[in-house]
Amino acid sequence: MLKNKKIVLGITGGIAAYKCAELVRRLKEQGCEIKVVMTESAKHFITPLTMQAVSGEIVSDSLLDPSAEAAMGHIEFAKWADLILVAPATSNIIAKMAAGIADDLLTTLLLATPAKVAIAPAMNQQMYAHPATQANLSTLAQRGVDIWGPGKGEQACGDIGAGRMLEPSELVTLCTAPAEPQLLAGKTITITAGPTREPLDPVRFISNHSSGKMGYALAQAAVELGAKVNLISGPVNIAAPRDVSVINIETAEQLLQHSLAHAVNSDAFIGCAAVADYRAANIADQKMKKQGDELTLTLVKNPDVIAAVANLDHKRPYTVGFAAETQNVASYAKGKLSNKNLDMICANDVSKSGLGFNSDHNALTLYWHDQQKELVIDTKYALALNVMKELAQRL
Ligand code: C5P
Repeated sequence: MLKNKKIVLGITGGIAAYKCAELVRRLKEQGCEIKVVMTESAKHFITPLTMQAVSGEIVSDSLLDPSAEAAMGHIEFAKWADLILVAPATSNIIAKMAAGIADDLLTTLLLATPAKVAIAPAMNQQMYAHPATQANLSTLAQRGVDIWGPGKGEQACGDIGAGRMLEPSELVTLCTAPAEPQLLAGKTITITAGPTREPLDPVRFISNHSSGKMGYALAQAAVELGAKVNLISGPVNIAAPRDVSVINIETAEQLLQHSLAHAVNSDAFIGCAAVADYRAANIADQKMKKQGDELTLTLVKNPDVIAAVANLDHKRPYTVGFAAETQNVASYAKGKLSNKNLDMICANDVSKSGLGFNSDHNALTLYWHDQQKELVIDTKYALALNVMKELAQRL
């Protein structure tokens, strides 16, 4: 089964556009349905007629064409796609996407689509290296756009460096990665992610360094395996995965309330949030003024959210915790598994540099009451898929 069966190929004005005929032919050989959208400048590099011939479909190029809109309106078009691939993606389209500009059909589709978006940058190496382009690419990556390439090597302009569009065969491989087996179809999973924020006064709070990346990766992996996912999230700077229902919270008490409400309708509950253990006993109504050399805050214990879920009498979901530890990882994790009445716990050693908090990588040991499994260092997404596959066997 193909993951991205319906693909909109957005061609922009770079010399690598000449490779798009080959790209479309190869995607069609793999069983993809392709609709091609071209920008005005793309037509200087490859003709719409060529793209029509290889795709077998009329090429779309205008937002303001009544007959094209009557056949398939641009919003319908944006919803049709499983994937929009912009290839080649010039520095100009990358800048427009980062800024959210919608001044032609392609940029409008890119804003209107719920589909996965991938871009294959292709430009002169100096333009690619420019801080403006790099900043735009990182904005897009943070929003969940996949950035495929660029490759390095000799460029059409004679320069050598990073900026070549990936070859059509490489793009086909990326587009047609098989869909994950739908091991969680029909299951509802609730996941908590990110930090909590415990206010001290209207402008200050206690929080922690949790980036939310692991919890968001779990949500993405659960969706890929076919689950319906509720993601209860503290304040983070990452975009929500597609098809995930996000509930934004700030405090541990809000997290508790939403967690209990969703847990009773879920097959599994995964507590990946870094919940602040304590909150201020009293939240000042007004901004606290500076006084003296010392300030004593009185903190009170926050509710243990996952323990509350794991101890539900009715409709208790399979409950999975996380344990971030700096020492005695195994014994602390196993202790939490028992004390909190969990079914499974994923432990990681956050004392290792480059892993855990804020990193894109991690390593986990999974514990159940009667067994354990090591997941060696990998991206958080790859680990998340493994965690979800283990979970799927137990639901
Ligand atoms: O006790 P500790 O914070 O190390 O336990 C970690 C696990 O417990 C995580 O799954 C975390 O989401 C959950 N937790 C919670 N509520 C708290 C503290 C931790 O749900 N107040």
